[in-house]
Amino acid sequence: MKVVIDTDPGTDDAIALVVALNSPRLDILGLTTVGGNARLSQTTRNALRILEFMGRPEVPVYPGSSRPFKGRFEYAYGFHGPGGLTVRLPLPKTKAQTGSGVDFIIEAARANRGDLTLIALGPLTNVAKALKREPLIVEWLNEIVVMGGAVDVPGNVTPHAEFNIFDDPEAARTVFGSGASIRLIGLDVCRKAGVTRADEDWFRGDSQGERLVSRILKGWLKMRGRDEAYSLCDPLAVAAAIRPELFTFARANVSVETDDSSRRGKTSAGYGMGNVMVATDVRAGEAKAFLRSMFT
Ligand code: BDR
Ligand code: CA
Repeated sequence: MKVVIDTDPGTDDAIALVVALNSPRLDILGLTTVGGNARLSQTTRNALRILEFMGRPEVPVYPGSSRPFKGRFEYAYGFHGPGGLTVRLPLPKTKAQTGSGVDFIIEAARANRGDLTLIALGPLTNVAKALKREPLIVEWLNEIVVMGGAVDVPGNVTPHAEFNIFDDPEAARTVFGSGASIRLIGLDVCRKAGVTRADEDWFRGDSQGERLVSRILKGWLKMRGRDEAYSLCDPLAVAAAIRPELFTFARANVSVETDDSSRRGKTSAGYGMGNVMVATDVRAGEAKAFLRSMFT
């Protein structure tokens, strides 16, 4: 399956990228970056660092948006650490591409009509800009797998909103309203799959992927407290692209609150028909075992 991954690494983005890079099922045409968990310059550098650490520097990285449609991104340094990864990986030798992430999404979709899946792991700014610039990508893309939203559960930034949607609700509204086929992995399922210290095998192993994941998780637990559970949000979105049968989905139209009220960024689903397959449940044990198996 050909994929482009739009990402804002980000600790869980990093784990998701390890899984995607190691999956024999995915052919990663490139990464596009967006501000979100950290500034765009940092998320881009982190993407390059991760690729180099994983021995895959040939995967191109295209920088995208440094700002959302309105205002500025709210960054998540308190969750992902001061550089966005909780750990300091060596500076990359490779550089980002000079082309823009938005154009790369459009060109990749055009060149691989009916055969490209877009996996979006950050605020939806790049995806929305691509849809506005070239509406035909709705038909060209096989599917967009989005990590975002808190449909029938509380948010993680406000009681109503999940981070990726909260950071650019206007973009999210454009994407969900585009008619594109979307698979939505929100907090509804990612809170069901967490990693704790008790998951000892997640902290073991000598492969690059195992080392990267365990270093990130150890750094996160040190920063946030040893008894916290780490939700596997972005990795589950990659799992949903590769193994959708691990999830239960319900078809819906998804709307996004964009006014300046306390509900800004809230995602609501009208179930029954629509273009979005909302993940309502996950076989968490199996999904975790699958993710763990992809670190080597
Ligand atoms: C999402 O927000 C980011 O902090 C994570 O990387 C993930 O994409 C979870 O709400
Ligand atoms: Ca992310």
